Amino acid sequence: MSLKSSKNKKKKQMTKKKQAALVKTSAKSEVKPLKEAQNPAETSAPIAAQAPAKIQASDGEVFKGRLERLHDELRWLYMELYGNSSMFAELCDTMGDFFRERKQELKELDSQRETRPNWYKENDMLGMMFYIDNFAGDLSGVEERLSYIEQCNVNYIHLMPFLETPKGRSDGGYAVSDFRKVQENLGSMEDLERLTAASHKKGINVCMDFVMNHTSEDHEWAKKARKGDGEYMSRYFFFDSYDVPAQYESTVPQVFPTTAPGNFTWLEDAGHYVMTSFYPYQWDLNYRNPRVFNEMMYNFLYLANRGMDVIRIDAVPYIWKELGTQCRNLPQVHTILRMMRIIGEIVCPGVLLLGEVVMEPEKVLPYFGTVEKPECHMLYNVTTMATTWHTVATRDVRLLKRQLDIVNALPKEYVFLNYLRCHDDIGWGLDYGTLMSQGIGERSHKQYLNDYFQGYTGESNSRGELYNADPVTGDARFCGTTASMCGIEKAGFEQDAEGMEKAIRLDVMLHAYMFMQSGIPVLYSGDEIGQVNDYSYKEDPVKAPDSRYIHRGAMHWELAENNSDPDTVEGKLFQSLSRLEKLRKEEKAFVSYANAWTVETWDPAILCIGRYYEGEKLLGLFNFSEYDKTAWINETDGEYIDLLSGQKMQAAGVNIPAYGFYYLKKA
Ligand code: GLC
Repeated sequence: MSLKSSKNKKKKQMTKKKQAALVKTSAKSEVKPLKEAQNPAETSAPIAAQAPAKIQASDGEVFKGRLERLHDELRWLYMELYGNSSMFAELCDTMGDFFRERKQELKELDSQRETRPNWYKENDMLGMMFYIDNFAGDLSGVEERLSYIEQCNVNYIHLMPFLETPKGRSDGGYAVSDFRKVQENLGSMEDLERLTAASHKKGINVCMDFVMNHTSEDHEWAKKARKGDGEYMSRYFFFDSYDVPAQYESTVPQVFPTTAPGNFTWLEDAGHYVMTSFYPYQWDLNYRNPRVFNEMMYNFLYLANRGMDVIRIDAVPYIWKELGTQCRNLPQVHTILRMMRIIGEIVCPGVLLLGEVVMEPEKVLPYFGTVEKPECHMLYNVTTMATTWHTVATRDVRLLKRQLDIVNALPKEYVFLNYLRCHDDIGWGLDYGTLMSQGIGERSHKQYLNDYFQGYTGESNSRGELYNADPVTGDARFCGTTASMCGIEKAGFEQDAEGMEKAIRLDVMLHAYMFMQSGIPVLYSGDEIGQVNDYSYKEDPVKAPDSRYIHRGAMHWELAENNSDPDTVEGKLFQSLSRLEKLRKEEKAFVSYANAWTVETWDPAILCIGRYYEGEKLLGLFNFSEYDKTAWINETDGEYIDLLSGQKMQAAGVNIPAYGFYYLKKA
């Protein structure tokens, strides 16, 4: 027997021994680290086992090194929350299994990224999000469309939820019934791995959702819990009377006050209430139970190992519940997130965590953790997004300038995802304290914004619909595509050429402004060709009550074919965005960690953003009004070049056409 194969044999034996121990420590509950978990003998990582012994040995050292570096903190946090050392031991063992299962290509990517920790903060990052079926039918369809994605200058795709979910009770895929199975109509796990591998070959990163706050009521745990199995009931929040739910209801706000009121659902067959913060078919998981935490971490690692670069943690502020609180942003959420970050850094350090925290800024920032003990790598710049639309509706940049000043003052390690809109509604979470000092009240202003974007006020060209209008609080959110909110839908319908020109200008200017922010810009697929609202959701009884579907329409490929024709809406938008995207990739001052600031323009409708990195300085000027305006800036440090026309000019008293913009670079 050669030295190599005897080493391999030893390794296999060790793995088997370890797995026997693993089965022992978790005798009561299932541990399904790998796909073939039913047969522990088969779980010894096939890929690692086939790899040369030398790589294996150094691989082992890599894992050991990472574990040694982070073990103490992980253990400390775990014991603080759960005080269960055998479950902790199981977690560490299973992390080892996932590490061994991880493909060599992914491990190499991990190592590269460990040596280049700023890799996702560069100016070449541009994202696009889409539902797989709407974009390309299924996972193989997406693979075929990778060249279109490249044509869009996009190198980061967010595949909206695609895991198994019950038809008609899916919340756009956010009710997962099996974390290890792809929806049949979209393909299989093998297709997913093929897609991530093909994307990586083209330098495209892939993101997916990890819905860890809840499972679908069709998840196997939920089914067992429903039948009264205590082991599984303890993974959710079950109550046999309304006493405790009533106490929760007195402090916990509602996520979907109109489409799914209340935070609990009565299960007639089970004779119990179950906590359901979102839809009644989305059962909140109980993270007080370490089995829930461990199993969900195994699901996270399983998905990461399919080749994901970014894991979007859905609804993360909600994952810990405590009676007498709002059940949002509790300290234990941060303990869990920090543990998740550490687990990722040990097993798959190339994978980024993107937190979905749709909250006011002071609640969002703690999700980055501290610079020494980070939690999420990236967060959504949600307040800036909402404030952007406030600015569109008011032609007054003051609040936006203030908001950007807050963001620009944050540590450069923090990376935001910038966007104009996503698959969800726009909630009017603005800084009402500041607005109040300008004489603007919260309730009346929300009413104004909703009226404006529905197109009810004189100067608005927007189209869209309200979302979860709450008759009690008078609150409502808004849904619409970027193009529809900019007036492209209205101008198209009215065949108003001048209106269309104006709408396209606004749409392009908003993208130019978004690209100027620090972080990663993310487009919603279809926005690059100005796709408008899709009202067909109203014909589907399942979707009809949820107006978010208005901006989740299918991609119009027949229109995308116009994207190089400058006489079409699609061509105008696509080509303009393309130029900006290329400029962004060329100019170093767009890196996420550059200095960024705002400049007073002495015109309420004009925003000026400055960026500086290693001797290169840029100024972005954005006119949020439908009138030509002058930015009364006066930068006395010499000549500037207009990056779009290439002409030299002074950055002083700059005239900016209606809904126009400039990217000026210091010569
Ligand atoms: C997130 C998703 C949203 C979903 C909710 C519940 O907020 O973005 O679409 O409804 O989580 O999972």
